[in-house]
Amino acid sequence: MKARIAPSILSADFGHLAEEIAMCEEGGADLIHLDVMDGHFVPNITFGEKVVRAARKATSLPLDVHLMVEEPENYFESFAAAGATGLTIHVEAAPHLQRQLTRIRELGCIPGVAINPATSLLTVREALGDVELLLIMTVNPGFGGQEFISSSVDKVARARQLLGEVRSGAAIEVDGGIGRDTIKSVWRAGADTFVAGNAIFSAADPKTEIAVLRQQCLELV
Ligand code: DX5
Ligand code: ZN
Repeated sequence: MKARIAPSILSADFGHLAEEIAMCEEGGADLIHLDVMDGHFVPNITFGEKVVRAARKATSLPLDVHLMVEEPENYFESFAAAGATGLTIHVEAAPHLQRQLTRIRELGCIPGVAINPATSLLTVREALGDVELLLIMTVNPGFGGQEFISSSVDKVARARQLLGEVRSGAAIEVDGGIGRDTIKSVWRAGADTFVAGNAIFSAADPKTEIAVLRQQCLELV
């Protein structure tokens, strides 16, 4: 299994977004993670499809768009048109999850589902055949720079087991509080895709930090 590092631009300097994204690409990032927040599903507002469009121009890396919004289906078309590679929606905001995931796939994007720390893995079990990415939040969503919730490690291990049971090849992504001190625990537990905002962008040398994070995942699991 190969680890994928996904810098979250939430912690980037938005005055120099294109340069920040280019720096991540040079540093070997595998994906660029974009956190869309609406001020309703989460108590914070970030950006919409225009920033995804700008990111699309700045890099050829896949754009991993994390929708922390209510009624996400209202935005699928515009984000797909803006160049999103993957669209991940929260099960807590998706009462018609299977239909919503199918729509994402129809639009040519990679369908993903995210679950909050207090949400059971069983809420997504029946939909796992329709997703290519399972995002396990390792903080409560809304802000960068929060502390990793340590009980997430066991949840990731159970998620890896569940994907095996249903014979799903979906990626397991973790998001929130991931850094050089926490990444190894979730890698060992079975995560393969690692979002990091604060750890990368507040580092003295973000490119080196991407390499350090990857280095932590070289151990065979
Ligand atoms: C949190 C976002 C994360 C955030 C992670 O709601 O979904 O993607 O950017 O930031 P760090 O790595 O700083 O915890
Ligand atoms: Zn995110």
